[in-house]
Amino acid sequence: MENKREDIGQIVDEIAALRKQLQYHTYRYYVLDDPEIEDSQFDMLMGRLIELETAYPDLITIDSPTQRVGGIVAGGFKSVTHLSPMRSLGNAFSAEELMAFHNRVQSGLGVEAKIQYIVELKMDGLAINLTYEKGHLVSGVTRGNGNQGEDVTSNIRTIKSVPLILHSDATTIPPLLEVRGEVYMPKKEFERLNREREEAGEALLANPRNAAAGSLRQLDPKITADRALDIFVYGIGVYTGVELTTHGQMLEYLNQLGLKINSQYKIFETIEDVITYCTNFAEKRYELPYDIDGMVIKVNDLASQQFLGYTAKDPRWAIAYKFPAEQAITVVEDIFVGLGRTGVLTPTAILRPVRVAGSTISRATLHNLDYIEEKDIRIGDTVIIHKAGEVIPKVLSVVLEKRTGEEIPFVMPEICPECGGKVVRQEGEAAHKCVNPHCPALFREGLVHFVSRDAMNIDGLGPAVLNALVDTNLVKDVADLYQLAMEQVLTVPRMAQKSAENLLTAIEFSKQAGLARLLFALGIRHVGVKAAGIVARHFGDIEDVKKASAEDLLQLDEIGAKIAESIVAYFAEEENIELVERLRSAGVKTTEEKQAIEENQLFAGKTFVLTGTLDTMSRTQASDIIQKLGGKVSGSVSKKTSYVLAGAEAGGKLDKAQQLGVEVLDEEQFMKMVRE
Ligand code: IVH
Repeated sequence: MENKREDIGQIVDEIAALRKQLQYHTYRYYVLDDPEIEDSQFDMLMGRLIELETAYPDLITIDSPTQRVGGIVAGGFKSVTHLSPMRSLGNAFSAEELMAFHNRVQSGLGVEAKIQYIVELKMDGLAINLTYEKGHLVSGVTRGNGNQGEDVTSNIRTIKSVPLILHSDATTIPPLLEVRGEVYMPKKEFERLNREREEAGEALLANPRNAAAGSLRQLDPKITADRALDIFVYGIGVYTGVELTTHGQMLEYLNQLGLKINSQYKIFETIEDVITYCTNFAEKRYELPYDIDGMVIKVNDLASQQFLGYTAKDPRWAIAYKFPAEQAITVVEDIFVGLGRTGVLTPTAILRPVRVAGSTISRATLHNLDYIEEKDIRIGDTVIIHKAGEVIPKVLSVVLEKRTGEEIPFVMPEICPECGGKVVRQEGEAAHKCVNPHCPALFREGLVHFVSRDAMNIDGLGPAVLNALVDTNLVKDVADLYQLAMEQVLTVPRMAQKSAENLLTAIEFSKQAGLARLLFALGIRHVGVKAAGIVARHFGDIEDVKKASAEDLLQLDEIGAKIAESIVAYFAEEENIELVERLRSAGVKTTEEKQAIEENQLFAGKTFVLTGTLDTMSRTQASDIIQKLGGKVSGSVSKKTSYVLAGAEAGGKLDKAQQLGVEVLDEEQFMKMVRE
C-alpha cells in the first residue's frame, strides 16, 4: 500500500460506519423485532467488519459488534456491590390485597391525591443491573442478595437486545445510568434447548427461568451466546444528567436509548381498572412467547414514589400481583394405563379431585415408566401437581414425608389392556407399546383420527357409530369406510334413514379432501397438520411422496429428521402401500395442487396469525387457504406479522396486534381478499 496513512484514515471511517450500521440493524432485529434488511445482508456487513478488524487488530474496541462473545471467565464470577440496592416487591394474591395496597398508597399521599398507576408484566426470569457509563455498557450484575450480586458482564454482552452502546440520536446520554431489567428465556428457546438435551440424554431443565439462570452462570460466554436469552428493562437505579417525572416517561426514555422495554404496559386512573386488567391477564399470559408470573403495579409519578419510599424490604409505591397458584397437593388414588393412537401405553394418575388455577383436576399425565420411576410415584402417594393454562396437568413431585409404607409401586402391564397382545419397549425408547397391528383399541383410535375435523372431516361418525361399525366387522380398516352401503349403515343401532344418508354423503364428500388432509389422516407418526400440508403441497401426488427419500424430505422448510424418517418408514410397509391403493381405487383423491411459484401468489411473503372463533370455517380451513396462497401461519403476533385474522372472542393476540399496529382482518375482509 502506497499511502498507508491515508488508507488507515479510510479504514477507520469504514469500520466506524460498519459498526454503526450493525448496531442499528441489531436494534431493529432484536429490540424492535422489525428487521429492515435480510439476514444475508447483515452477515455481509459483519463479514466485512471482521475482515477489517482481522487486518487491523489495533482498531478493535470492546464495543465492536464483533466482540459480543468473549473468552472463558477464569476463576469464576466476581462479587460486585450495586450502587443502589436492588429491592424486591411485596405480593398481592387477590383483588382485596390490591385494594389494600391502594388504600395504603392513598393514605400515604393524602386522601385528596389523584393517583395514577402504571401496570407492567412481571417477567419470570432473573433481575439484572446494567451499568452504562457515558453510554457504554460497563457491567451486567445479577441481583444476588439485593446489595451484592455476581458480575456476569461477559454473558450479558452476548444478549443481542442489550445495546453495548446507548443510542444518542434522539436524546441525551446520561453520564451514569443503572438500568434494571429481567433476563429471560423465550418459551420456544426453552423447548428447543430441552429437546436438544433430551436427544443428548441430559437431564431436562424444569422451566425457562431456571434455564435462563443456568445460562447466565456459564463461565464460557459461547454457551450463553447459543442460548438466545432476551431482556426487558423496567427501571433505573442511580442515574445522572436527566430529569424524569413519571415511570412511563422513564420507560420511553430507556426505549429511546435503544434498550428493550415491554410495550405491554398500561396506565390507569383508578384501582378498579388496575384490578380488572390484572385479573384478566391471568389467562392471556399463556399466549405470550415468554413466561410471566404476575403483574407489577407501580405509582406512575416518580416524586410520589420517592415520597412513599420503602419499608424495611419492599417499595411502598409498587406491588406484584401474583396469578392464582398453579400448584396443589393431592393424592394419587390409582394409576390407569390407556392406549394412544400409535399403540403407546400411557399411564395416567387418577387423583383425589383438587382445585388448581381455577379448575378442578382429577387426572394428571405420567407420560411413561421412566417418568414414574424417576419421580418414584406410587399409588397412594401424596403429590404436588402443576397446571399451566390449557396444558395437561403434571405430577411435579412426591411429598415423601407423607409416605406411610402402604403405597403401591406401579408396574407397567406386560400385556395390552385392550387386546391382551404383547407389550414391548424398544431399545432406547421411553414408551411401552402394544405391537399387535390388529389391536382393536389402536384401530379405533386410528379411525377416530382419520375422520376427525382436521383430517378427512367426516361428520356423523361419533364413537357410538364407529364402535358399531368396528364391532360388526363392517369396517376393518379406514378404506372400508368407502365401501359402506346404505343397508349396512342402517344395521347400526338407532341409525335413522336420514342420518345414514348424511353419513354416506359426508364419506363421499371426504374423497375430495386432498393429499394434505389424507397424509395427516393416515396417522403417520410425527406428521401433524402443518407437516402434512408442507409435504403435500411440495410433492403434489402421493406417488411422489412414496418415492421420496429422507434427504428429499429434509430439503423442505420445517421438515426435520423425525418427520422425514417417519414418512419413509410408513411407505416402506407393504400393508400401508396396499391401504393407500385401496383408498385411491375407492376414489379418494391422493393429489394436491402443488405450491405455485411463490412470488406470484396472493399471500407470498405474508405471515398470518389466527385468533378467536371463525364463523364460516375452522382455523385449519383458514390456514389451508393461507398456505395454498403462499402465506405462512404463525402462533404468535410480532411486528413481522402481516395480518391477524380475528374471529369472535379473540384475546391477547388481538390486543397485541393493535398495540403493534398490525393489520387486523375479520372473516369477511379476509374472504374478500381471497376472492379478489
Ligand atoms: S420492579 C423496587 N418490574 O420481580 C421495584 N420487577 O420481586 C423492583 N420483575 O426482582 C422491581 N418484572 O426480578 C419490577 N416489570 C417489573 C418486573 C419485575 C419482573 C422481577 C424482578 C424483581 C422481582 C420482584
